[in-house]
Amino acid sequence: MNYISIQNIDSLDKWVKQALKIKKKPLKNKKLGKNKTLGMLFFNSSLRTRLSTQKAALNLGMNVMVMNFTSEGWTLEFEDGAIMNSGASEHIKEAAAVVSQYCDIVAIRAFAGLVDKEKDNAEIVLSGFLKYATVPVVNMESATGHPLQSLADAITMAEHKTKHRPKVVLTWAPHPKALPQAVPNSFVEMMQLQDANFVITHPEGYELNPEITKDSKIEYDQDKAFENADFIYAKNWSNYKEYGQITNSDPNWTVTADKMKLTNNAKFMHCLPVRRNVIVTDEVIDSENSIVIEQANNRTYAAQLVLQKILENGK
Ligand code: CP
Repeated sequence: MNYISIQNIDSLDKWVKQALKIKKKPLKNKKLGKNKTLGMLFFNSSLRTRLSTQKAALNLGMNVMVMNFTSEGWTLEFEDGAIMNSGASEHIKEAAAVVSQYCDIVAIRAFAGLVDKEKDNAEIVLSGFLKYATVPVVNMESATGHPLQSLADAITMAEHKTKHRPKVVLTWAPHPKALPQAVPNSFVEMMQLQDANFVITHPEGYELNPEITKDSKIEYDQDKAFENADFIYAKNWSNYKEYGQITNSDPNWTVTADKMKLTNNAKFMHCLPVRRNVIVTDEVIDSENSIVIEQANNRTYAAQLVLQKILENGK
């Protein structure tokens, strides 16, 4: 079993319930991972993913090996048949096979480069490990998805929702750097598995990949989208059509207390890290309606559920 995308979840409702059970007794399965090793390979920076996934593995009694691949590993070649007479020192074929001998599960973080859309959509790094690793692979945020984050988001919403069919708004917000679409992509896919009034709001031109958004509702007027919302999920992403470009940095899209007043006393969510007073004002993120810290806490139980399922599957 691999955990690569939200599509790997057979029943979101069941998974959320199982994760909440793990949250109540996180050390219950401390023996499950005995003598098993999780290898975590980072091609990009991380705080939450690194520590929560490590904590999850430790809760299951696993050993953990972490490698910051970009600074510590050999530069990898991903193209089959490449003549490796320039920058890359090692082919993914050997690297993934070798890592698989040391680890029982390998987890990969490799962001989009945001230069070549086709290359990013092909998920070169993750696909390379999937092709050549001989152990289960977990996506710790790839070019196009962040399914561990979205599973944690689903757990957090389940804990905080006060009605069966809440209104959930994914809002674009400005950011000084070009960011990937991975988090909003997985959030959209996760919301499509829920019974909710789900609305995406962003400036015109900032549409996500239509193959992902499918028939999800898009509302270009942020104020209108916020009306009566129960959850506001803020996130920046760079332009998907003009791939990787920042074509809008309008501060009117920042989530402010005035905008939150349009909602049904909505909870504020963000995957973190967040740029204060750019994505969201201090007043909102510091308010009692902000659940970003609990959201980050739930990353552990999302990761633990995934690792547990993989370990149980391997029995
Ligand atoms: N949300 C998230 O993935 O955080 P990190 O990038 O710090 O891991």
